[in-house]
Parts: sequence; structure tokens; C-alpha cells
Amino acid sequence: MKRTKIVDLLRAEVLDIDVEVKGWVRTRRGNKYVQFVALNDGSTIRNLQIVFDMNKFTDEQLKAVTTGSSIHVIGKLVASQGKGQTCEVQADTLEVYGTADPEVYPLQKKGHTLEFLREIAHLRPRTNTFGAVLRVRSTLAFAIHTFFQGKGFFYLNTPLITSSDCEGAGAMFQVTTLPLNDLPRTEDGKVDYSQDFFGKPTSLTVSGQLEGELGATAIGEIYTFGPTFRAENSNTQRHLSEFWMIEPEMAFYDITDNMDLAEEFVKYCIRYVLDHCRDDIEFLAEHYDKGLIERLEFVLHNDFVRLTYTEGVKILQESGHKFEFPVSWGIDLQSEHERFLVEQHFKKPVILTDYPRDIKAFYMKQNEDGKTVRAMDVLFPQIGEIIGGSEREADYDKLLTRIKELNIPMKDMVWYLDTRRFGTVPHSGFGLGFERLLLFVTGMTNIRDVIPFPRTPKNCEF
Ligand code: 4AD
Ligand code: MG
Repeated sequence: MKRTKIVDLLRAEVLDIDVEVKGWVRTRRGNKYVQFVALNDGSTIRNLQIVFDMNKFTDEQLKAVTTGSSIHVIGKLVASQGKGQTCEVQADTLEVYGTADPEVYPLQKKGHTLEFLREIAHLRPRTNTFGAVLRVRSTLAFAIHTFFQGKGFFYLNTPLITSSDCEGAGAMFQVTTLPLNDLPRTEDGKVDYSQDFFGKPTSLTVSGQLEGELGATAIGEIYTFGPTFRAENSNTQRHLSEFWMIEPEMAFYDITDNMDLAEEFVKYCIRYVLDHCRDDIEFLAEHYDKGLIERLEFVLHNDFVRLTYTEGVKILQESGHKFEFPVSWGIDLQSEHERFLVEQHFKKPVILTDYPRDIKAFYMKQNEDGKTVRAMDVLFPQIGEIIGGSEREADYDKLLTRIKELNIPMKDMVWYLDTRRFGTVPHSGFGLGFERLLLFVTGMTNIRDVIPFPRTPKNCEF
């Protein structure tokens, strides 16, 4: 006989057959005649009830069946007498794979705080909450590939180790094999990187965009989906040092095409999760965020508001609202400003465009006004910025001037400039933070709770 997953058993249409199930015990209760075990194998949030007729089993056998222990049961799948489930298994045989001593197993019953679970992140996937989050995460990753593949985009793998700083923010983790306690030096006392592994300074990537542009200007429409690293010292509910980013990049798209794609893309993802993870989303809504499903539906059924940064700043200034960080044209908007526009003013997702040139990266297309660039940020309720993107500067001379103004080392940029030197085309792209989207669809509030093993400043466990 072969094991059947619980998700499949709970959907079974044929009853009164022998089945084999394996999983972890969530709870056991009962009396001396009959014992009930709630069994979970991770395939669904729902548990399968196993009924032990105590005429067939001894107390000794059942004693090892405690919360967290792993068991293997063969029995008959029957219609359930009890409430809350359609079918259950009447056990014929029991094998205990592994016990979980109730004195020390930390996940007894319920009611652990998310803070406590973060400290035992190696065990938290066994809770209902993290099982739900991990299943949603997996489904969402599949939705992303499905969306782009369905549109004829190509999945491009951009490097994780790089020698260029895409965002120019300097928040990179250096990669080196040099002995840090005994660094080789050049004659003028600088670190001699010619002796390093790659023969020059290298880091973990903050974005695959620049290489993504090489792909888009060759095979048309690409997307990346991979880990990204930022050594910013931001200890917030929305920042990770290692996060996953999806970066589509498209030849022949202007900023409007880019916005249309971004909006269609996030709506597709939300719809997909609602359609494919209903049980998990309902569980998360019930336990963490009563308004979750309504908010997801709301985003699906409304057009995103599109306005310029300059208009946004005006609304903030005229709002009369007292912000912690005062608003003036030219500032980088803080999360409180973004959330005010989305949650209080428009009460809808917002796409802000045409940001001041000086607060955005060097590669963005410059507007005629000489002050702004064709950037777009998608702002979401609860989250703030979920997507950042732009139309790219396609003009060789303008791009080169900007690179020089910002003192970006030219030797690092020659290959990038070649996209504009040979057969340049208008093109655009954006980056979606995978965990930011997960925060939105799961209703969790801390980004550390939507990635299995979070990396944040001073925290790199497991
Ligand atoms: O706005 P960002 O920095 O844009 C880029 O990296 C561009 N190269 C993207 C592009 O145009 N191809 O980052 C994009 C998104 C943000 O909107 C946010 O959702 C997410 O990545 N993000 C983070 N998510 C978690 N933790 C962090 N520290 C993040 N930094 C950015
Ligand atoms: Mg950004």
C-alpha cells in the first residue's frame, strides 16, 4: 500500500477503503474506549481525524502519541460521525516513527506569539500559521512563473555575485576570500584586490536589473526571480537583508506599458492565491487579519490611482496632517507619507511617477523638465512601496553624462553602456519585492514571518 496525503484524503469521493497515512500529531484526546488524534502532514492546513478503538490498541501504544510525534497509520477511511470533518480514519495499525517529549517539545497546543515562534524558526514550519504561509509562498512563486511564461516572457538567471552596484546605494555585502586579519596591500597601502578570488572587489547583488536589461535588449521580454541582498541597517517590519525579487524587463515598453504590466501582474498574483490557497488564506484571515479577504478583493476590483510625485507631495502638504518627517518637494517619501496617500487619501493602491532625479537611480529616463525621471513606485495599503521601477534612459549621451555626474566608475559600466551604443531601444522594467507581496496576501505584519529563515541585521540563525 502507498501513503496518501491528507489533502487528497479529505477530498476523497470513495469511502470505506483502506488507506495509509503518515504525519505529525497535533492533538490527542478521548477516553478509555476511544482515542481521537488530529493528524497533520503539511499538505493542507486541515487535520485528519484518526480514531483509535481502544479494544484494538493498548494504553501503552497510545502513550507515545503526543503532540509533535510522528506516526504511520493504516486504517479505513469512513464518513465521519463528528462535526467539522467529512471523513476520518479508523485505525487498524499504528507505528510511531518518532516521539516528541511533552516536557520539552516547545509547540504544545496553541497560542504562541509570533515573536516566540521567530526564536524557534527551525520548528515554526510545523505550526498552522507557518504551514499556511509556506504553502502560500510556494503557490505565489508558481503564479509568478505562470503569469510571465503565459505572456511569452523568458526567465533569465542573473548573477548573484557581481562587481557593479545597480542601485548605487552602496548597501552591498562584500564577497571576498582574502584573509581579513592579514590583508595583502599594494605599495600605496590599499587592499590588493588583484589577489582576491575574482581579481577585483565583488559583492552580492542588490538587483539583477542591469543584466536583465542585457537580456531584454536581446530576447525582448525577460523576468528574473531570485534572491537579492541589501546590507542596509534597517530594522523595520518591511526590510530583510536577504529577500527575493521579481524583475521583469521589457524592450519597447514605455512607462505606461510598464505601469499596465505591473498592475495586471499583482492582480493576477492576488487572484491566483485566492483561487488556490483558500483554506490557508481563510485561516490567516481568521487568526491575524479579519479584513484580509475583503482587502484582497478590493485591490482586484479597483484601478490603481496614477499620479505624479509632484501631485502627491501637494496632496500631502495640503492635507493638514502632522507627519513625523515634514514634506517638501525633493524628499524621499517615507512610509508614513506613502501610507497616507494610499490609506487615507485615495483609499486605493497608488502608482506614483516622475520622481525627482536626485533621489532615484542613475539609469532612469530623464524627463524634459531636467528635474524629474520617469520612475514609478507602486504603493499598497499596509505595506507602502511594493514595486519600484522606471522607463530606462535609452539615450547613450544622457546616460553617460549621468554616470559621470554621479562618479560611477566607468570601467564597471562599459558593458551596460553598450546596450545604448548598439541598437538602443526604449525599454522599461520594475522590481517587485516577493516578501512585500506575501505580507499583503497573507495579512502578516512582519516581513520576518513570510520567509522561512529571515536574515536581518544581527540575525542569521539556522
Ligand atoms: O525599489 P528597489 O530598490 O528597485 C530596484 O532594485 C530596481 N532595480 C528594480 C527594477 O526596476 N528592476 O527594489 C524593488 C522592490 C521594492 O519596491 C521592495 O518591494 C523590494 O524590492 N525591496 C525589499 N524587500 C524586502 N527587504 C528589503 N530590504 C527591500 N528593498 C527593496
Ligand atoms: Mg524603491
